[in-house]
This record gives sequence, C-alpha cells and structure tokens, in this order.
Amino acid sequence: MSKVFYVTTPIYYVNAEPHIGHAYTTVMADFLARFHRLDGYDSYFLTGTDEHGEKIYQAAEKADTDPQSFCDRISQRFSEAWRVLDISNDDFIRTTEERHKAVVRRVLETVHASGDIYYDEYAGIYCVGCERFLTDKELVDGKCPDHLIEPENRREGNYFFRMEKYRQWLRDHIRDNPSFIRPEGYKNEVLGMLAESIGDLSISRPKDRVPWGIELPWDSDHVTYVWFDALINYISALGFSDDQRYTDYWPATQHMIGKDILKAHAVFWPTMLKAAGLPIYQHLNVGGFLMGHDGQKMSKSLGNVVDPFQLAEKFGPDAVRYYLLKDTVYGQDSSVGEHLLIDRYNADLANDLGNLLSRARALIGRHMDGVLPTPEQQAGDQEVIAEGTALIGRVRPLVGELRIFEALETVMQFVRMLNRYFNDEAPWKLAKDPEQHGRLGTVLYNCVEGLWSRRCRARRGRGVSILGLEILLSPTLRSGAGRCQARGCRRKRRFSFRKRKLKNPNSSKLQRRKNRARRKSLMCVRKKARYRLMTFSMCSCGLHKLPRPKKSKRPINYSN
Ligand code: MSP
Repeated sequence: MSKVFYVTTPIYYVNAEPHIGHAYTTVMADFLARFHRLDGYDSYFLTGTDEHGEKIYQAAEKADTDPQSFCDRISQRFSEAWRVLDISNDDFIRTTEERHKAVVRRVLETVHASGDIYYDEYAGIYCVGCERFLTDKELVDGKCPDHLIEPENRREGNYFFRMEKYRQWLRDHIRDNPSFIRPEGYKNEVLGMLAESIGDLSISRPKDRVPWGIELPWDSDHVTYVWFDALINYISALGFSDDQRYTDYWPATQHMIGKDILKAHAVFWPTMLKAAGLPIYQHLNVGGFLMGHDGQKMSKSLGNVVDPFQLAEKFGPDAVRYYLLKDTVYGQDSSVGEHLLIDRYNADLANDLGNLLSRARALIGRHMDGVLPTPEQQAGDQEVIAEGTALIGRVRPLVGELRIFEALETVMQFVRMLNRYFNDEAPWKLAKDPEQHGRLGTVLYNCVEGLWSRRCRARRGRGVSILGLEILLSPTLRSGAGRCQARGCRRKRRFSFRKRKLKNPNSSKLQRRKNRARRKSLMCVRKKARYRLMTFSMCSCGLHKLPRPKKSKRPINYSN
C-alpha cells in the first residue's frame, strides 16, 4: 500500500481525569484515521499519556500515592474513555514504559554527542501548569493566561539544548512548506515567534527537586524535562528506529494538537528532530479550545470541565462524536453544552437521518418482506444517484483540509436530498397500488442504497449507483453496534438512531411530556427489535458482506 497516513493526538497529562477537551482532539484524530483507512490509506493512529514531570509528581503527592500507581490509575481512565467513545487507536503509548524511555535516552545521547547540549544556570518564570518557562510577554495581568496562576521565579542549574541555532532553518522550513502548520493563523503566530530570538531550551530538571522523570544518560543527578521526554513519544511508539512501523509511518505524520501547546510542537519538536538528524513531520494541525460554561477554556485546573463518560452514558457515544465533529470549526474556539448537543442530535440524526431510515425500513419490512427489491431505475432517479456517487469526491478534499464540519454538512445535505426524494416519490402511496409494486421497490432500493452501500450491488454484478451514507458516516457514527444475526455475518449494524428525540432540559414543554417520552422509549425498544429482524433479512440478500475496515484495513474501492 503506497498511501500512508499517521495521525497522533497529544499524549495527555495524567494529573487528573480525562475531560471533553481531550475527547475533542481524540475524536477528531479518530475521524481522520477512520476516514483515511476507508479511503485506501495505510492509516496508523497513536494516542497515549504523558506521565513524567513536576505536575504529575505533585498530583501524586497530593493524592498520597506513589507516582507510578497514580499514573497507572489515571492512564487507565484515558484508555477507558477512548473505549467508551469507540476510538480506533492502533497504539497507546505511556511515557513511563521502557520502550519509550529507551528511545528518549537514545535521542538525548545523539543530540548531546553532536554538541547541541550544554550545562548552564537558568533564571526565569515557570508555570507548572504549562510545564515550561514563560516569557514576560506571554503573561496577562502577571498570570499564565491558560492556567490563571502567577508563575514561579526559578533559578537552577540545567542542561540546555541549542534551539536558537536552528531558528533560521525552522523559519525557512515553515516558509517553504506553507501547509506545515495549519490553519494559517497559527503558522503566522509561529513565524512571529521565530522573528526574534527563541533562546535555548532548558531540557533537564535537578533530580533532587523533580525526582519523577527519565535520568539523563550522562548525568544521573538530572532528569529529562517533560516536554523533551513527551514529544519523543511520536517516534518511540513506532519503535524508533529499527521497527518497520517507523520506516512505514515516519515522517508521513499529522500531529493534532490544541493551540496551547503550539510552541512545543512547532518550535521545540522540529528543532529537536533536526538536531537529532531525523526527518521532520509533515503537518501540525492546531485546534481551538472547547470553552466551559464560564466562557473560559475548559480545563482541569479551572474546574469547569464536562465529563466525557457522563456525556456518552447519557446520550451515547455517537451523539457525542457527531456533535464534537459537526458543531465545531477546527482551529477555532467553540462553546460546548448539553443543549447544543441535543439540538444537533435532534436536527441531523433523529430528524433527517433517523426519519429516513425508519420510514424506508418500515416500508421494506411491510411491503417487501424485509428483502431488498431489484431496482428498475427511471430518468427521475438519476439525480439522486449522481449526487450519491459524487459525494465522496466532494467530501474528500474537505476532510483533507480539516473542514470536517463542512464535510459532514455535505453528507447531511445528501441525507436531506434522499428525504426529499422519498417524499416526492411517496412510496407509501405507491404501496397502495399493486401495479406500482416495481416502482415502489426501486424507490426503496435507492433510499437503502444511499443509506447503506453500493458495494453490495457491485458484488451482485449490477453496476454501481449510490455510495452508502453508512460508509461515509462510519468514521463519525460508530455505535449502532449489535451484530447482525445472520450466519457468518460479521458486519456491524449501524444507524440505529432512536426515532425519539432527545429531551432538551431547557424546554419546559418537553419537560411536561416526560411520561409520554417514557412510553415512547418502550416503543423504541420494539422498533429496534424490528430493525434487527430487518438487518437479518437484508443480510440474507448479500448486504452484510461489507469489509470491516478497522480489523482488515481493507480499503473501500470507490471506483467499483
Ligand atoms: N502532555 C501535554 C501534551 C504532550 S504531547 C507530546 C499536554 N497535555 S494536556 O492533557 O494538558 O492537554 C492535551 C491536549 O488537550 C492539548 O492539545 C490541549 O490543547 C487539549 N485540551 C485540553 N483542554 C482543552 C479544551 N478545553 N479544548 C480543546 N482542547 C483542549 O498538554
């Protein structure tokens, strides 16, 4: 396979539990990994946890636990969160793992041997939240703008990496590769940083003050600075440098980060790679913040976080994933809230998609014995078929430019088009006329083909019409879950949206309908049961034979 896609999230600090801000970057990366897998790329997706440094050490002390057990516990919570949100990471790296430490030591040795590391005294202002020295210019009212705390004055003996030496090279690299950092605003921000001296980077901490870290290979009284340690995860997880994964995936890399860690990824990391004689990653993609109810960046230290476990439990992982991808503009800040999630779910998933699915399903069940009919297309069907076939061509470039919400909107426009087609053709009227049975079958076929996949049709040698929304939405909507009961069928059933709308707590009208909703939910269970039967019937006519992209990594061949 020639096309390679390696996507990473930041590795998350384990000083506290995961929150929705972490989930945002991870869901975004997961979407990209899944989309590229489907689109024929050999896709590899890495996430993990950042477990060394002062901040973690202090958190463990506060919890009265030894640092390793503390890290084990919180790291586990991140793994669980990604399982709940159906994240398809290929690896989960922890910086306390030996495979990572060994690579950090190797990189340090290489850079040290090249003469780019020296020892000096350092005095400056340090934010433990950011785990880095700040410049006066970065402060707002004397405080770190991200953590709203005054940084501490520090003076100590540290080892330094000659970062300034690579400033001009980095400026040129960014100018020569315009999409290296995106969106563009962040590229300009970095070029602004590089317009003046960036100084050298302190890369060690005295062990007597911060005992929780990787010892420097040449001086056991010092541990590695947490950022120098953490950034290396992106190659240590690939088994740098002898593993085939390193050869395959580095440097075809897409780093996904939040804007608060721009400097570390856009300045520290490429200069570190350059000094170590390694190729530079391909793209740095910078996301905005999810803002809490108080209008501030959602963060553990500010205590305004939304718990992804609670959200997924309440609304299901699909609703959370869809909302994060559809209601945010990548690169910009977005406010998040339950009521916004509910509105988005109701508008797109329950109304547009869920309605179409349930109406098509009901009619096929009732009038076609649950078996997909053979179509006889007419001229009037061509528009919807052409639109469905062209969809991937429209969606692909939008995903490539990380305009994910636009990509999903394009898909939803097609859903709305299918709904219009359904309403215009009025299959429930066709069903009343036995002579129109063939036409009814064709209309239902086209809707189902749009909802599921054209691949089944290709398999049955009848040519190709619409590319199934199931496939196009599958990187976003995961949990339709439940396996089809057909013998030998391993395909996951999707699109099991509750027809019932979600209750918006802000709406008193809906509050008053509480009991009715409860009754409706019972109906939903019954509907789901019917849907299962329906899937069974469809499977028996070959629809279930779609590949399972996650395991097999087999691409969907769009030209089929
Ligand atoms: N450990 C470092 C990253 C090292 S990567 C080599 C770190 N960890 S973090 O847990 O504090 O943050 C990880 C990521 O989560 C960052 O990209 C950060 O921007 C993102 N987010 C944390 N809170 C966020 C929001 N409220 N909104 C969006 N993203 C947020 O930094």
